Amino acid sequence: MPLHTKVDESARDAELEINPIYFREKTCEIPRYRLPEHGVLPRTALQVVRDELILDGNARLNLATFVTTWMEPEAELLMAECAPKNMIDKDEYPQTAELERRCVNILSNLWNAPAGSQATGCSTTGSSEACMLGGMALLWRWRARRQAAGLDAAKPNLVMGSNVQVCWEKFCRYWQVEPRYVPMVPGRLHLRGAEAAAKCDENTIGVVAILGSTMDGSYEPVLEISQALDQVQAEHGCDIPVHVDGASGGFVAPFLHPDLEWDFRVPRVASINTSGHKYGLVYPGVGWVIWRTPDALPEDLIFKVNYLGGEMPTFALNFSRPGAQVAAQYYNFLRLGSQGYQHVQQTCQDIALYLSGEIAKMGQFELFTDGSDLPVFAFKLRDDITTYSVFDLSERLRQRGWQVPAYTFPADMTDTSVMRIVIRNGFSMDLASLLLDDIRLQLRILEHHPQTQPPPEIQQMRQSFKH
Ligand SMILES: Cc1ncc(COP(=O)(O)O)c(C=O)c1O
Repeated sequence: MPLHTKVDESARDAELEINPIYFREKTCEIPRYRLPEHGVLPRTALQVVRDELILDGNARLNLATFVTTWMEPEAELLMAECAPKNMIDKDEYPQTAELERRCVNILSNLWNAPAGSQATGCSTTGSSEACMLGGMALLWRWRARRQAAGLDAAKPNLVMGSNVQVCWEKFCRYWQVEPRYVPMVPGRLHLRGAEAAAKCDENTIGVVAILGSTMDGSYEPVLEISQALDQVQAEHGCDIPVHVDGASGGFVAPFLHPDLEWDFRVPRVASINTSGHKYGLVYPGVGWVIWRTPDALPEDLIFKVNYLGGEMPTFALNFSRPGAQVAAQYYNFLRLGSQGYQHVQQTCQDIALYLSGEIAKMGQFELFTDGSDLPVFAFKLRDDITTYSVFDLSERLRQRGWQVPAYTFPADMTDTSVMRIVIRNGFSMDLASLLLDDIRLQLRILEHHPQTQPPPEIQQMRQSFKH
């Protein structure tokens, strides 16, 4: 969450301006930064808050986010009914706990956990928490192995591509693990086996493989990375586990790329996370993490909560958490089934491939990806186009309501500026055609009105898109 600072109230309007027709009183003062002395009627509060929110973007036109922006009314009804339930109260809401258990089992099967392996997992607030838990299990296991062998356990490191999502940087900083990033280079925009293996040593707690990359939607080759680590083990004796960050791909690959070996079919994959609130098709905040076997999850990370007169093992960073998202995840599993998920993800992919193909045909752009892994693609302007930038185009599209982010790639490609489009359930072929019309129109305008570069502080703001 952003950190907010206490406002100097003398410097800004300290009161909210309220439309007088909302009040029966002649005037009503609502302080902006202090708790009002008196309340208002529910309808008034609703209207005031709605008015505050009208400048938020239209979620359906947000092509930046991976997170679900549309669910059908029945799912919304179920979520509203479950809003009061706290996921941690397993004893009070045993059926919500049961739905969570079923979801973990459904995902274990979807990710090919070996029969009898007793794959173990839980729901989380999203992939960030799930990655944190996955990383902690790697760290605890590595430390226990080192200590049992009487070896130094002070300098753990984690190997990953520089294209990882910020949650892995957080994991490393919060748990004092050295992040070993493999930089992106032109022609290799994500981690590959040889580069991962070259960074590993006896202090490596694990390698993170991403399915697919937040930067461009491409899948990292989990099998190739795992085979390179087999080689490391054969040569140096280090047995290094892989965690697959399937924040998006965990719900895409099983339906669109069923023959791709990226999951528990690969013996070195110890754990996998996904976001139920991305291609799992649930509103934010639910994620999942599953370990191949119970011993991949060290016992001393587990806490017990009351459950039907007994105790239920839990692993989480926070305590209270809404139960509605878990019920909605189970709703989606029932409602769609395997065929339904396949149909939804295939439709997204068809639209992504159509859009990327049309954008490539325009002539001004070069594609990095086309949406054939995740239904997500990234592209840049041709190098010889210098009179406007992807940031100018992104801003112009924003004026029409489209949110298409422009950003620079991470190390070592920070001088490459790209745009990325994420296609999610609810974005139709019709909307895609309208977006293409708007891109063509804005390009014509930009070509006739060369842009001057804004001052550095404005350029910085244009980079403010967060992955
Ligand atoms: C690869 C990857 N990992 C982790 C995350 C964090 O996921 P969440 O937003 O569910 O916490 C994201 C978010 O985009 C992601 O793309």
